[in-house]
Amino acid sequence: MFERPESAPRKVFLETYGCQMNVADSQLVGGVLQRGGYVRTEDPADADVLLLNTCAIRERAEERVLGRLGELLQFKHARPSVQLGLLGCMATHMREQLLDRAPYLDLIVGPDGYRDLPILLDEGVDPRVDVRLDRDETYADLIPDHGPGPRAWLTVMRGCDKFCTFCVVPFTRGRERSLPPDAVVAQVEAAVAAGKREVVFLGQTVNAYGSDGADFGDLLRRAAAVDGLERIRFTSPHPSEVSDSMIAALADEPKVMPYLHLPLQSASNPVLEAMARDYTIEQYRELLARVRERVPGIAVSTDIIVGFPGETEAQFAQTAEFLEEARYDFAYQFKYSPREGTRAHKMPDTVSEEDKGRRLEQLIARQEEISFEKNQEQIGREVEVMVEGPARRPPGHVVGKSQSFKTTIFRDTGAAPGELVRVRVDGGSGHTLQASPL
Ligand code: SAH
Ligand code: SF4
Ligand code: F3S
Repeated sequence: MFERPESAPRKVFLETYGCQMNVADSQLVGGVLQRGGYVRTEDPADADVLLLNTCAIRERAEERVLGRLGELLQFKHARPSVQLGLLGCMATHMREQLLDRAPYLDLIVGPDGYRDLPILLDEGVDPRVDVRLDRDETYADLIPDHGPGPRAWLTVMRGCDKFCTFCVVPFTRGRERSLPPDAVVAQVEAAVAAGKREVVFLGQTVNAYGSDGADFGDLLRRAAAVDGLERIRFTSPHPSEVSDSMIAALADEPKVMPYLHLPLQSASNPVLEAMARDYTIEQYRELLARVRERVPGIAVSTDIIVGFPGETEAQFAQTAEFLEEARYDFAYQFKYSPREGTRAHKMPDTVSEEDKGRRLEQLIARQEEISFEKNQEQIGREVEVMVEGPARRPPGHVVGKSQSFKTTIFRDTGAAPGELVRVRVDGGSGHTLQASPL
């Protein structure tokens, strides 16, 4: 078989699973590997190094990755010099089982081990495992490879200290730490210099951000002062970390877009308590009202878990009722999935798979209707859209996001990606708005 000459750059295939923080981490890994002399390939058959950046949030996420590893193994069989590696949250969550279930892995590296990837890939030992969690690693000095489009994802804090009882993230990503505000501003400026017009600040509890005396509201204001940047978004804020400083930035800084993801999980106080969510439904309700009052028209989305251990039919009904009250623009809804190592894992999983499925379907169906109605309410309104590129359909149309993060499709006006176009909404489904340029 043909072997590349020694001097040719090695090719790396990198596939990403999980949340936006993983997407951003893959861009960071892309930058690190590029500087280490690697080039990216989209074709696994052509790669010298195959990497999966993985997610451990629910069992299904892990199963998908294990299945995919099995598929990628064929490329290693075809060319034994190919290295197969697993990065991300599964590396820290399943380390022991991985050595058992995928003994062919050459590399297992957790979220705090990316800085040295090129060195690890050059080492002869097999497998190379680096799943240490680091209290200080923020990669603040590393420039990610942002990829195409006008939006840059920037991780401003890493880890999580909340330890919600259902969640693996504090175990897979370690303790909370924030990048210095100067480093964030430098990354925003670098993104703008590279042609980006929007930044999305990322962190598992992004609004717990704090460094060098700057809180999250301060960080938003610092970024808003960067010339050439048009829009700032962030995800995922935690309800109990929403401060007046953050709400003031949402309300007063025109560049901070009117969209808030406010994970609820459940509307039943005993369930919230068993989840260790550290707010009550009354506090959450008051917060939502305060945000909506200070930022009129703000779009709000949420996360909900059904079938948490011990969730009764009546407690579930409270969550269903709260959907009616809150009228979210969008909701990500999940069946509870027991995760080894978490406190909830030790609680009896009392809700049957059938009941979990029914509860989930009921909420999804109702939220679909609400999302549709919320989008219908937009009809006739003028919104500003940042163009991202051609729409998949219809031909001759472009797609972008409105201020409140709604996917909006309209006739191509010749505006380039990153340009802002004012449009009037004239139709909407549950997922997209159709509009006409003004
Ligand atoms: N840090 C964010 C959430 C990150 S995980 C926050 O606290 O808001 C994204 C979502 O996945 C969570 O909000 C939760 O709804 C869901 N999730 C997390 N662990 C889960 C589990 N074990 N089973 C089902 N859903 C889960
Ligand atoms: Fe997980 Fe809770 Fe941390 Fe979110 S806040 S990442 S749900 S532990
Ligand atoms: Fe998954 Fe890790 Fe994100 S577990 S949701 S990739 S932080």
